[in-house]
Amino acid sequence: MTDQELVELAFTMLERSYVPYSHFPVGAALECADSDRVFTGCNVENAAYGSSICAERTALVKAVSEGHRDDFTRIAVVGNSTEPCWPCGACRQMLYEFAPGLTVLVAQRDHSFVKLPLSELLAHGFGPKSLG
Ligand code: THU
Repeated sequence: MTDQELVELAFTMLERSYVPYSHFPVGAALECADSDRVFTGCNVENAAYGSSICAERTALVKAVSEGHRDDFTRIAVVGNSTEPCWPCGACRQMLYEFAPGLTVLVAQRDHSFVKLPLSELLAHGFGPKSLG
């Protein structure tokens, strides 16, 4: 799958977003190295605002709960925004736990995207090895 195809897959998730409060849908597509498996996600908000979950973490917990932990290669994150839909700090941290070497594709409304390593989005991240 090309980078653009992964981005387009993430865009298909915008219609699944549950965003009655922010009205800001976000989609994600997290790719595994093996078997061309991709886990998608959208943001799901809640009347207790803090209980909401972002698109990236939805995709990640879907993957981990299905047995994938250490084979993530790329994630696409997309939003209907005029600048790249940057992952929030909590999502950067959650992704770093399982995939410090992840490549992140961050797209905006016109479907253009920027590509950069997670290690650039979360420099000197705190991960499992930090507890050693
Ligand atoms: N959001 C995400 O889904 N991912 C991010 O990394 C940034 C923010 C969602 C959370 C909330 O539902 C909406 O965007 C507005 O903050």
